[in-house]
Amino acid sequence: MKKWYAVIGNPIHHSISPKMHEIWFRTHNIDASYVPILVEPDRLEQSVESLFLLGCSGFNVTVPFKEAIMPFLDELDQSARSAGTVNTVVRTQTGWKGYNTDGRGLLASIPNLSQSTRILVIGAGGAAKGIAAALSDLHIRDVTICNRTLEKATQLANKYNAKVLDMSEVPAKLPEFDCVIQTTTVGMDSEESPLSNPIWTSEMVAVDIIYSPPQTEFLKQANSQGAFTMNGLAMLIGQGALAFELWTGIKPDQKEIVQTIFSS
Ligand code: ATR
Repeated sequence: MKKWYAVIGNPIHHSISPKMHEIWFRTHNIDASYVPILVEPDRLEQSVESLFLLGCSGFNVTVPFKEAIMPFLDELDQSARSAGTVNTVVRTQTGWKGYNTDGRGLLASIPNLSQSTRILVIGAGGAAKGIAAALSDLHIRDVTICNRTLEKATQLANKYNAKVLDMSEVPAKLPEFDCVIQTTTVGMDSEESPLSNPIWTSEMVAVDIIYSPPQTEFLKQANSQGAFTMNGLAMLIGQGALAFELWTGIKPDQKEIVQTIFSS
């Protein structure tokens, strides 16, 4: 029987996941489809039950349900437990198992990441939590967290044995890091950066989890000083690739998919 997968969220029309997974199914000759489903927030539990009854093989979860869905799943993978959110759900014999592939997806796309890479995470919200959990799972030893609200950075850092840096010290100390991951919402709707007058070098990697606009002010600053830059598309593709692998056992191509999605 033809398998089918879904993404649930609200809103959902902007999601590129259907296109991405349909391309990968086609490339790997898998007879399956992937549909976006708009779920009303007060109907989340019924929707999750209905997906099971209707034979859905697995689904992605996006805003605003990544945390809210957790009580309606039968099992949680370590990745979901440590991040505190779920973005991928796999059908088991008896129910649903939740995973979080966001953090791992992002880290998988960073070039030359190793356990000794010195990482700075900017932000301490939901996205930062998932990334901090994934950094810890990969045993990355040198992680520092900074945030507008210092207390939240301290809480997150304590959980993962990371260091904390006061936001005011970040611009000057930036060259002490190999890779800086920007996880705040700053730059999404404005031409602002969380850093004023940062010092970048050409050995550094700047990662922004925002993909719209494709080049935030944070990435522009880094790019103009020669750093290697990556936007949130890498994370989007990376989390999708790991979800695809959980569902099918196949690691899909991540390099050409961006071009294929945006040219078709
Ligand atoms: P998400 O789930 O996308 O991470 P979130 O949990 O609301 O969203 O977290 C937003 C992050 O962006 C937080 O780190 C927040 O900093 P605070 O903890 O101080 O609120 C950060 N952020 C949002 N607006 C900001 C701004 N104008 N300047 C600096 N940081 C900001």
